[in-house]
Amino acid sequence: MNLFINLSLKILRFLPPEVSSYLSLKMNKLFFLIFRFSIKKNYQEKTKNKNISFLNLNFPNRIGLGAGLDKEGKYVESLGNLGFGFIEVGTFTPLPQKGNEYPRIKRLKSMDSLINSLGFNNPGIDIGLENLKRNRSNFNGVVGVSIGKNRDTSLESAHLDYIYCLQKAYLIADYIALNISSPNTEGLRELSSEDYFKKLIFEINSEATKLNEDLNKITPIFLKISPDENEERIEQIIECSLKNNISGFIVSNTSLGEFKNITGGISGGLLKDKSVKMLQIVNKINAKRGLVISSGGISTKEDLQQRRKHGADLFQIYTSFVYKGPQVIDDLLPWS
Ligand SMILES: Cc1cc2nc3c(=O)[nH]c(=O)nc-3n(C[C@H](O)[C@H](O)[C@H](O)COP(=O)(O)O)c2cc1C
Repeated sequence: MNLFINLSLKILRFLPPEVSSYLSLKMNKLFFLIFRFSIKKNYQEKTKNKNISFLNLNFPNRIGLGAGLDKEGKYVESLGNLGFGFIEVGTFTPLPQKGNEYPRIKRLKSMDSLINSLGFNNPGIDIGLENLKRNRSNFNGVVGVSIGKNRDTSLESAHLDYIYCLQKAYLIADYIALNISSPNTEGLRELSSEDYFKKLIFEINSEATKLNEDLNKITPIFLKISPDENEERIEQIIECSLKNNISGFIVSNTSLGEFKNITGGISGGLLKDKSVKMLQIVNKINAKRGLVISSGGISTKEDLQQRRKHGADLFQIYTSFVYKGPQVIDDLLPWS
């Protein structure tokens, strides 16, 4: 089986990254549909005795898949059963959008990295959640829904996009991740500036409080942080977030850079140091008040150990999974 997967990965690497990603997701789903029973049994074996509870969520293990691979909410069961304890889908925006111009993903293979300028290509939150409802019942892990704003929504009205998505996802999601840190939607990162952040978080908290009472459900909300912020600003972001009932932080999103004629988000090996540095800063300020999910260049047991030392409760992978396939989950699970 591993031989087959490794061979497929090698062949897929000759194709453009987005085509390769699309085909891998489809093939993996087909595989899951055919071998569902043995895959699910295998999942139980892999995650035995690794259960861990945070807030009101029960994670089968600490290794999750970062947002942006399942941008449609169609692959939760097939990806999740490879061994993930949690999967984050999206980022979803209120309206469907195509994203930025092609080419918008390049492999930086020698550095185990990717650069992407996708720009929230997604089917819109309504269809995304419909897909999710149909494709999650065979996954026992936690499912997060990442939400963002449409490209054409002004920064002044951005909170309305987040509130729209929050209302839609609140009942379905196990947790909601606020994505204000993608470098690929023009101006998005300004939402974490003093001018916009307080209002945004206040409005989100007010709406979440209402939803909690009306629906009798608490859906934790996490904030995904950019690795490119300065320490002073991070302190204000974290204090303001915690005051407004944000339950945790995902540290970090991709870092803005330029390679191979693409200006966009860098992930994988090249992000590792920045992401660890940001984790250290967040850990110091957060002081165990909110949950911390480490994301950025994780691929080995040493990465997990280092992130644990710097206060990470959970981990997310993306780029190492793209390069190494399901083997990376098996490599990490014993150390998680
Ligand atoms: C192609 C690509 C698309 C991504 N799309 C999203 C997204 O839609 N929302 C989001 O919050 N993060 C997105 N990310 C960021 C990842 O979730 C992750 O935080 C980041 O890549 C760092 O982890 P890694 O180094 O393990 O890849 C994307 C990353 C990549 C490489």
